[in-house]
Amino acid sequence: MTVQQLKYIETTPVLETERLILRPITPQDADAAFVWLSDERVNRFMPYDLYTNTDEVLHWINVILPDDNNFHWGFVLKENDLLIGSGSIGPDAKTIGAWGFGYNIRFDCWNKGYTTEATKRMIRFAFEEHGVRDFVSNHAVDNPASGRVMEKCGLVFDGFSEYKTFDGKQTFQSKTYKMHIEQENGFAVTRRLFSIRPSPST
Ligand SMILES: CC(C)(COP(=O)(O)OP(=O)(O)OC[C@H]1O[C@@H](n2cnc3c(N)ncnc32)[C@H](O)[C@@H]1OP(=O)(O)O)[C@@H](O)C(=O)NCCC(=O)NCCS
Repeated sequence: MTVQQLKYIETTPVLETERLILRPITPQDADAAFVWLSDERVNRFMPYDLYTNTDEVLHWINVILPDDNNFHWGFVLKENDLLIGSGSIGPDAKTIGAWGFGYNIRFDCWNKGYTTEATKRMIRFAFEEHGVRDFVSNHAVDNPASGRVMEKCGLVFDGFSEYKTFDGKQTFQSKTYKMHIEQENGFAVTRRLFSIRPSPST
């Protein structure tokens, strides 16, 4: 294991929700991760290329993940110890002070509330452990399930935007969601949006 991988594992805390364990992803997870990384239905709106073999997955786990500036977890079902997907949270490249997040999970686990459960936990981690108060995320206009996850986590639609795949070949029109939370009487409460922008068509 490389120094970077050890650092990634040491600095990624194991988190828990009602049905999930969020933990670092290791090379032993390559076969499980291949299930969603090689699935066109999961990949459709993601910025990465579809994975075609487990060597590519191992490259992601061994080289790309440990080098990532975000906190990155595998989502594991408590009931059977199955790794069903992954998610990350970290400083947003465009909005100073805000953190952004992302996620993807295997197709047969969609629409069971798992991603919302995991994302709420990632947000709580950022809020409690890193003092983050502003959150931002965006999803392709044609991928409303992701927007629904954002809404269920407390974010509110803020305007339209776009993002590209990592190879720059595809551009997705997207919707941006934001949330500002503050500590009040021991509870995190949504206070305000930090900006509202008009859509490009208005
Ligand atoms: C987006 C994704 C992570 C959601 O994961 P999930 O575990 O199914 O999410 P949840 O079950 O917590 O919530 C999904 C919500 O979207 C809703 N939904 C699903 N399809 C929808 C659609 N076509 N239109 C509107 N809402 C939809 C579900 O009903 C559910 O909302 P509800 O609880 O109010 O009923 C999953 O679909 C996925 O991995 N997609 C591929 C990767 C991806 O697109 N990642 C996001 C990139 S921005």
